[in-house]
Amino acid sequence: MEKKLAKAFNEQINHEFYSAYLYLAMSAWAETQDLPGMAHWLQAQAKEETEHGMKLFAYLNDCGQAVALKAIGEPPAEFGSALELFEQVRAHEAKVTSLIHKLYALARETADPAAEVFLQWFVSEQVEEEKNAADIVAMLKRVKPDSAALLMIDRQLAKRGEDD
Ligand code: FEO
Repeated sequence: MEKKLAKAFNEQINHEFYSAYLYLAMSAWAETQDLPGMAHWLQAQAKEETEHGMKLFAYLNDCGQAVALKAIGEPPAEFGSALELFEQVRAHEAKVTSLIHKLYALARETADPAAEVFLQWFVSEQVEEEKNAADIVAMLKRVKPDSAALLMIDRQLAKRGEDD
């Protein structure tokens, strides 16, 4: 693996762990708003992000590359409203998608087919991640804040992971 690709993998580990931190901060905020279903959904999301970071971590180890963990940035603590929060989730996932695409392009540029194949999972995962966030934003746009309908969405989000 070329040095610059290994460096970019290490940076992506940091992005994934920041994502976990961001979703945990969002989950904590949702708890303060009495939206336990959203808090649960966001905690599950944070767990997934940790798994993404660990996949990259294991890949670097498998390739005999040194993992270099950097400081994780401080996430915000205020998210406005449930709709604004999920709009931020969607925007964050779009940003992660562009980072994954850049990493994939670098794997190509450095002629590293193994890294390319490995990253394909992340490319597909991002399609799912963006879709999930967009679906929730679409639902939230249809309901008023503090309405019974909002609580119904919250109950629905509480079910994440029940079928796993
Ligand atoms: Fe690891 Fe939500 O992307």
